[in-house]
Formats: sequence, C-alpha cells, structure tokens
Amino acid sequence: MKQDTIKIFDTTLRDGEQSPGASMNTEEKIQIAVQLERLGVDIIEAGFAAASPGDFDAIEKIAQRVQNSTICSLARAIDSDIKSAGEAIAKANLKRIHTFIATSKIHMEYKLKMTPDEVIKRAVRAVEYARTFVDDVEFSCEDAGRSDIGFLKEVSDAVIEAGATTINLPDTVGFRLPSEIGAMVKEMSQYTQGRAIISVHNHNDLGLGVANSLEAVANGARQVECTINGLGERAGNAALEEIVMAIKTRSDIFANYKTNINTKEIYPSSRLIATITGIEPQPNKAIVGKNAFSHESGIHQDGVLKNKETYEIITPESIGLIKDDTLVMGKHSGRAAFKDKLLKLGFSLDNEALNASFERFKILADKKKDIYDDDLRALVTNEMTKATQIYELISLQLMDCSNGVPSAAVKIKKENNEIIEAGIGEGTIDAVFKTIDRISGYHGKLEEYKVKSVSKGKDALASVTVKVSFNEEQAIIGHGLNIDTMLASARAYIGALNSYLSMKGKLKPC
Ligand code: KIV
Ligand code: ZN
Repeated sequence: MKQDTIKIFDTTLRDGEQSPGASMNTEEKIQIAVQLERLGVDIIEAGFAAASPGDFDAIEKIAQRVQNSTICSLARAIDSDIKSAGEAIAKANLKRIHTFIATSKIHMEYKLKMTPDEVIKRAVRAVEYARTFVDDVEFSCEDAGRSDIGFLKEVSDAVIEAGATTINLPDTVGFRLPSEIGAMVKEMSQYTQGRAIISVHNHNDLGLGVANSLEAVANGARQVECTINGLGERAGNAALEEIVMAIKTRSDIFANYKTNINTKEIYPSSRLIATITGIEPQPNKAIVGKNAFSHESGIHQDGVLKNKETYEIITPESIGLIKDDTLVMGKHSGRAAFKDKLLKLGFSLDNEALNASFERFKILADKKKDIYDDDLRALVTNEMTKATQIYELISLQLMDCSNGVPSAAVKIKKENNEIIEAGIGEGTIDAVFKTIDRISGYHGKLEEYKVKSVSKGKDALASVTVKVSFNEEQAIIGHGLNIDTMLASARAYIGALNSYLSMKGKLKPC
C-alpha cells in the first residue's frame, strides 16, 4: 500500500526557544540539532537569523554540521531578514527559508497597519527574494487560524506563483478546534491541488495542538510543525513525540501515512532538551513524562504483569526508554563499557568528547557509589554543551554561616592565572555569586535559580540551572552539575558567565 510521508518540521530551536527561560547557547543548539537529525526530523528550523548575531552564528554552525535534515531559518517578510536567513544557511546541504506575514484582519489592521493588498505585495516580494537564495521556500500566513479563507487562497495563489513550495497555515494563538482546522486544511489542500505542500503549525493555548495537527493530516496536510516536549510560545506548540506516536500507534486510522522519525530516538531527544533548557515535561505528560509508563494501582500492576497490553498501548522501548533503573556503572567500569552504555543511551561521541566525559565519569564514580542512566545523561550533556571555558572554577570554600555573615572564598582560573577572592552576601549563594562577579568584573543579576536532583539517593547529583543577565544585557542560562549543590551552583553561574562572554556582541537587544 502506498503511504504518504508526513514531513516533520521541528521548531524546538526557534519557536521552542521562545518559551520563557528556554534560551540556549550555540554549543547546546548544535547538540540539539545533531540529535534532531538522528531522530529523523525532515526539516530543522534552526532559528531566526536576523534576531541577533548569536542566532545567526548558531544557524550557520548547524548548517555546516547537519547533513541529512533540511536546515531552515525563519525570516519576516523583510529583505534584510531574508538576506540574513539566506546567508546563515548558505553552507547547508539541504536548505530552506521560511518567511511569514500575518493575514488575519486583526493582525493586518492593528499590528502591521497594512491593507490586504499591501500584505500580498510584501509576501510576494519576500518569496521572490528568498528564491534568489534557495529553491525551497516556505511561506506562513501568520494567524491563518483567524484569517478569512478567501484571503488565504488569494495569498497562497500569489506566493505559489512567486515560488513558494510550502504553504504553512499556523493557528498562531491556538484558538481553533480540530473540526475547524480539518475543514480549513481540506479546503486549502483541495484549492492548491498539489501546487504546494500544505503545512500546519498549531499552538496549544486550548491544549489542542496535537489533536489539531492530527486532524490536519487526515485532511491533507503533508507537513506538521512541532517541538520536542511541546515547548514554544505561551502554552507551547504541538508536541512532536505525541503526533508521531499517535500516527504510529493508530496505524489503523493513519494507514496511509508514515513519518521518517526513528521513534527510538524520542526519549533521548526529550531528555536532551529537558536537560539543556532546565524545563522538565510535566510528570503526566504523554509519551515522555516521568509517569507515562508507571503503573500505580494494584489492579493495573497485576494486569501488566499478566499481559503488558492490558494497560500499555505503546512500549517504553519503542521510544528508546530503557526501563532499567538498576545500577549501571561504577568506578571499576572501563572505557569500553562506558562507551557502550553511552551508545545505548543515544550518545555517539567523538574521541575527544568521549575522553572528557570518561574523565568526569571517573571523578564522579570516586564520590558516588551508584551511577544511573540519568546521571550519565546529565554528565555527558553537561560536558558536550559547555561554552568555551574562559573562567574555570578551581575551588570553593564556604564559611560557617549558621550565626555569622555568609561568606565565600572562590579560586578561579583564567588563562593560566589563578585568582582568589573572598566576599560576603545575604546568603551563601549570594556570597558565592557576588565573589565571582568581583573576580570577573561583570555584574550579574540572578533572574532564575533552579536546583533538582538528577537521580536518587542522598548522594544524588545536583543539577543547577541559573538565568543571569550580566551588565544588564540579555539573560543567559548556565548549568552546573555536582554532588555538592554549592559547587554545582558556582559552576552554573560561571557557565552562564562563559556563555555570556563567548556570545558578547552577538546577543539580542533586551
Ligand atoms: O505561531 C506562528 O504563527 C509562528 C509563525 C512564525 C510560523 O510561529
Ligand atoms: Zn508559532
């Protein structure tokens, strides 16, 4: 039987990064892009090149690194945006420009202050100009969900004529119900008659992003835009893992469709993004939530023991979740076993990264008796995504703060020089961070501080995520990992400082 391929367009690095608190450094974005390629994503929207030199830089690096997925940059329907997008993706093996302008009455009148005719002219110009850089141009009618269908047809005719190969119909504010999205997609598919691929991009404001995307597929959409863990603006986007697993699990309904996703890479992808952004999926989140495969009630446990299918419609293995929470590695484990374990967890590292991770594993194994899969995931991700280490923490000493003034002595290395400083604060974290500021000369404002244990046990690794704005510039995320929470905090803060310094001059204006 002939099956149509539904293209999976992942926008975790663009719309996902627009989730509050989800901004990532360049190394982190590259690691995510590499994982998305391994997952089998058809198109990776790597960012919005014109947003800042940092975004441009990350897209350019991803374009050079990823070979099998199309690399796409978003651009408003403005020449300068399109030029940035075209230049950022120039070296990609497969490349696309995604340009957009709003088509709903409310957006045209109040936001753009443009007439429908002006919008069409701008859209046509954008697509024509984008085609001077690439053959693959996607055009989005922003707020299509609230746009007049007659106008959507007019715009589509014009941009297809100008060279657009994909027409995306975003439900930008997540307003529509599945039946309405289905009707819109059906009418637009019939109208465009294969002249362009019809795509959807559904936001989740009413919790319907995935349902709307599935209804769109059933009615003619051949591309779905989505994000890992459903990250995205406000309530997020439709979750990639839910769309893909729904199509696969309900192959009775979706018999005519397939995706190119290797579902065994879903769980590793979800963990990588949660670790990097510090945003954990809710425990009861479908497919990748911590409880998605847990059976609490006795009746359910009994059923599952007798036959898993009594209460499990998909297997953990099918999404790459090895439900083996036993001790995985210890201090006597060798390099080969370590490499093998990482491969099973979805990490294939080059020699340099493997050596660096193995060294950190050995240090950890000396302190922590039981090392679990999640410890290894966190450790390797932390190692692979850290920015150039301009500042490196050598030691941290905390003074007794039970009665007196909380104070810290910090030793840091910068370009082979060791610098020691001591300082006080309102609390221990305050003292540590202020002392680091004194050493670096950059004033950091702590906007967010999160700590969580990676696995279990009193000796669990602490994973600290901070969001800091240095010298009143754009806030930067930093991660730190250590058995000691204070050391993890200091590392996270220095990590944010290093990211800030390596991105300085490339940040978005506040
Ligand atoms: O939600 C939206 O409309 C978007 C477009 C830029 C595709 O993200
Ligand atoms: Zn969006």
